[in-house]
Amino acid sequence: MRHKDNTLLPEGRKQKKKRGIAEISSVYHQELFADINSLLEEGGIHRVFSDSDTGVYLFRGDCLVFMDILIKSFPRGLVDMVFADPPYFLSNGGITCRAGRMTCVNKGIWDRSRGIDENHRFNQAWLLRCQKILKPDGTLWVTGTHHVIYSVGFAMQQLGMKILNDITWEKPNPPPNLSCRYFTHSTETVIWAARDRRSKHLFNYGTMRKLNRGRQMKTVWTIPPPGPDEKHFGKHPTQKPVKLLERIILASTRENDLVFDPFTGSGTTGVAAVNLKRRFVGCELDPTFAELAVKRLKQATQERVVCPEIFGVRR
Ligand SMILES: C[S@@+](CC[C@H](N)C(=O)[O-])C[C@H]1O[C@@H](n2cnc3c(N)ncnc32)[C@H](O)[C@@H]1O
Repeated sequence: MRHKDNTLLPEGRKQKKKRGIAEISSVYHQELFADINSLLEEGGIHRVFSDSDTGVYLFRGDCLVFMDILIKSFPRGLVDMVFADPPYFLSNGGITCRAGRMTCVNKGIWDRSRGIDENHRFNQAWLLRCQKILKPDGTLWVTGTHHVIYSVGFAMQQLGMKILNDITWEKPNPPPNLSCRYFTHSTETVIWAARDRRSKHLFNYGTMRKLNRGRQMKTVWTIPPPGPDEKHFGKHPTQKPVKLLERIILASTRENDLVFDPFTGSGTTGVAAVNLKRRFVGCELDPTFAELAVKRLKQATQERVVCPEIFGVRR
């Protein structure tokens, strides 16, 4: 049975109330992706992790192809929130400082610039698809440096999205700028946008205020980069801290909502979603990063509900 918001509801609402969330999401999600499994395989998209109890799924492949299949299968929208950390397009042979040493800035082939016009066309392409798989009131968060974020913001405006906030994520103790010809880079911008101008977006104002000790939360967030405890399965060159993702998810979703990350990398968004009892679907192109994400998601789903509080706020 298909629900009006296009998710699959195995049973009526009355029965849903009587059953535990884990039990519901199990039936709910097995059916959700089972329907389109062959389409995904045909498109070269492989499911590499699934946990139906927590509603967590990871696919390996090109997110543009993956999203095209989701759009066809769920034309009225599927996900409540998208977090995207797209290629920065900064891997062009520059230098940086890592652990006190001069190293090449390159992150990988996936991060090479294709020229500003081609980079912008890519941003338009994946953003358009994210807009289509969002439910009408869903929101989208995109993080990036100056190499990519202006193109992302422009593309969002071209697509008629409603920009809600631009968050400055400040990283304490950034690496020094070796050339001494620029300020040292210590921030990223995270744009938060609603699917379109009619969207009635969700903002958990009270939770954010509580998190900020009773004062309205501002748009500058100081959060350290991921420490060794978030990297014990391996490293990703642009891994985001779980705390950043937890704040984003806590601000804009409800428990059991479905969060999507088209550029999953090491799986940070999925880990944060599991910690906060949200469901998650992710896509990652690179097999090595997908493998890393699987390890992290496996651990997160096995260890869920270890800590009942986050930032002093009950989940
Ligand atoms: C900036 S990183 C994301 C890092 C992630 N937020 C984390 O915390 O680990 C971008 C990721 O997108 C992946 N990627 C690039 N192009 C892709 C595509 N077309 N489809 C899916 N993933 C892609 C890269 O392999 C890379 O791991």
